[in-house]
Amino acid sequence: MAKRMELKNLNIFYGDFKAVENVSMVIEPRSVTAFIGPSGCGKSTVLRSLDRMLELTSGARVEGQVLLDEQDIYAPRVDPVRVRQQIGMVFQQPNPFPTMSIRDNVLAGIQLNSRRMPKARKDEIVERSLKGANLWNEVKDRLNAPGNGLSGGQQQRLCIARAIAIQPEVLLMDEPCSALDPVSTLAVEDLIHELKENYTVVIVTHNMQQASRVSDKTGFFNIKGTGTPGRLIEFDATEKIFTNPSEQDTERYITGQFG
Ligand SMILES: Nc1ncnc2c1ncn2[C@@H]1O[C@H](COP(=O)(O)OP(=O)(O)OP(=O)(O)O)[C@@H](O)[C@H]1O
Ligand SMILES: [Mg+2]
Repeated sequence: MAKRMELKNLNIFYGDFKAVENVSMVIEPRSVTAFIGPSGCGKSTVLRSLDRMLELTSGARVEGQVLLDEQDIYAPRVDPVRVRQQIGMVFQQPNPFPTMSIRDNVLAGIQLNSRRMPKARKDEIVERSLKGANLWNEVKDRLNAPGNGLSGGQQQRLCIARAIAIQPEVLLMDEPCSALDPVSTLAVEDLIHELKENYTVVIVTHNMQQASRVSDKTGFFNIKGTGTPGRLIEFDATEKIFTNPSEQDTERYITGQFG
């Protein structure tokens, strides 16, 4: 669990449009890396390239390398389905399967792989994942109730439980708290903080307090203007980015002097 990732000279296209240009960075294992920057600068695009989900969008194409430990996930013989089993993704809107039980939601990614797993083993995975997502105490007495009977914050933690049930090497989260109230947001932030003991976590957020609270490293992305590609302007320790950034654009963005 918890592998290192390295992005090398990534260019990402949607058809003829170059959305992201020349992004390189190292993402350390057992750490939280935050991506920040204005809307449209390519944060989600880069994130989705890290588990090869991007190519499910027709016309989307990645140039460059993404190493998971030493393996380039874009190498010719690599199976994208296998990559997505090693790297979990949590989305902006909590998306549990609404009519499926809480228990089955946690197992949703597993059951595709091993239909004939013994019940005791499944129970173990459900408990471990829900504990890992800080949700166990709230749901342990109603594991067979439907997933949509939970609050928004609980649903998001259920989605995190589903993502960690497969024991991924890396956990990607695209604005995981933007649909949540402040209390649920803090619960998910606490959880992210704990997850880095076992996982490599990458989170996209618009909330700078959140980036500074939860992340070790921060990447600031920016675009020069509409139609130009997003670029990684600065990537450094979170504390440095938020107190003493090297680039003027970063400074302007974090102090809010920016469109
Ligand atoms: N499926 C797509 N087809 C074509 N262009 C796309 C697609 N998805 C994103 N883009 C474009 O790529 C660029 C980067 O988009 P992306 O969604 O990565 O930005 P973002 O930084 O995540 O923005 P936001 O903060 O609003 O979520 C934008 O110009 C966007 O319009
Ligand atoms: Mg986005």
